[in-house]
Amino acid sequence: MRIKDKNRGRIVDQADINLEARYRLNDIFSTAWLGYALSAVAQLSIADLITEEPRSFKEIAAKAGLHAPSLYRVLRAAAANGIFVEHPVGSFSHNDVSSLLKGNHPFSWRGMAIMWNHPSCLRGWSVFSESIKDGRSGIEHAFGKRLYEHLAETPGATKAFSDAMVSNSAHTSGSIARQFPFQDYELIMDLGGGVGTLLCAILQEHPHLRGVIYEIEELLQPAQYNIDSCNLTGRARTEAGNFLKKVPPGPDLYMIKNSLWNWQDDDCRHILSNVREASQASKGQLLIIEYVIDNENAPWSTLYDLQILNMPGGRARTMSEYEKLLCQSGFAIDSVELVEDQTLVLCVPV
Ligand SMILES: C[S@@+](CC[C@H](N)C(=O)[O-])C[C@H]1O[C@@H](n2cnc3c(N)ncnc32)[C@H](O)[C@@H]1O
Repeated sequence: MRIKDKNRGRIVDQADINLEARYRLNDIFSTAWLGYALSAVAQLSIADLITEEPRSFKEIAAKAGLHAPSLYRVLRAAAANGIFVEHPVGSFSHNDVSSLLKGNHPFSWRGMAIMWNHPSCLRGWSVFSESIKDGRSGIEHAFGKRLYEHLAETPGATKAFSDAMVSNSAHTSGSIARQFPFQDYELIMDLGGGVGTLLCAILQEHPHLRGVIYEIEELLQPAQYNIDSCNLTGRARTEAGNFLKKVPPGPDLYMIKNSLWNWQDDDCRHILSNVREASQASKGQLLIIEYVIDNENAPWSTLYDLQILNMPGGRARTMSEYEKLLCQSGFAIDSVELVEDQTLVLCVPV
């Protein structure tokens, strides 16, 4: 029987499974267009012009200097898909999801919304079929360079990606700082710690701790700015370096968050062995914070894995894959804990 599906506004026919299957595929591809539109909304800071009270699209367009009819179509599509709320006569207000697109939201997702459809990222996807043929990243096929080399020579790109990491870490950092027993340590080094969103949250939560952000040269200045803005100048510092080549000794806890999955197994073994060597003197432990593919292959984690293949050319891993890498690098797993969607793996030297 052919009936109109009230939720999705289309004719469905339980006897015609091809119709349902076609809708399903169309929904998947058109959701990607919603992502592109929301990246544009984020780039143009449109969410900052929308308030809790309904506001007309014409007023928003006039304020931002945008083409009003096109802005209406974007906001209508977003609202129809659960982002923003549309009110009569073309007015829009925020809901919980759209609020995260505001730049000044404490848990703003604006940086991620821009990064996911950054031109570099999209160029990678455009040649993703090549990645399936040889396992090299989309970015490498598109630009002939690996992600971090490409970002370093693309104006504004390192900042766009770093802003995204701040967005991504803003929420989880507080939860990690409260839930992991950082009180047992004295000096933490965050390897590839970005601008220090996580390290600063931990130091603010645990006043006895000191910390180091170990990063590429380009991020040291914004990291130092972040340290100073958090009033942590005396307790935290930055250090430039390349964890593929060397990890400095001294800390009793090394951390590496959402970074190992950027790298292939050989590179991970280099990073982990460098941590193992550095940890010798201080008997330092290692806390890996990572998106892990669980035994059920949670759909979101398998999709993140594809973006990791597209951009840095690394891979999301299962716990047993991490266990193998750690064992090959002189570490054993002490404990595993979940905080939000992150897995915290505490590793001890063996
Ligand atoms: C995916 S980001 C994660 C940032 C941060 N840990 C977080 O979770 O928000 C990876 C970080 O590793 C840094 N990075 C890349 N290659 C590096 C290297 N060879 N040595 C040290 N840091 C590196 C990047 O600059 C970037 O900030």
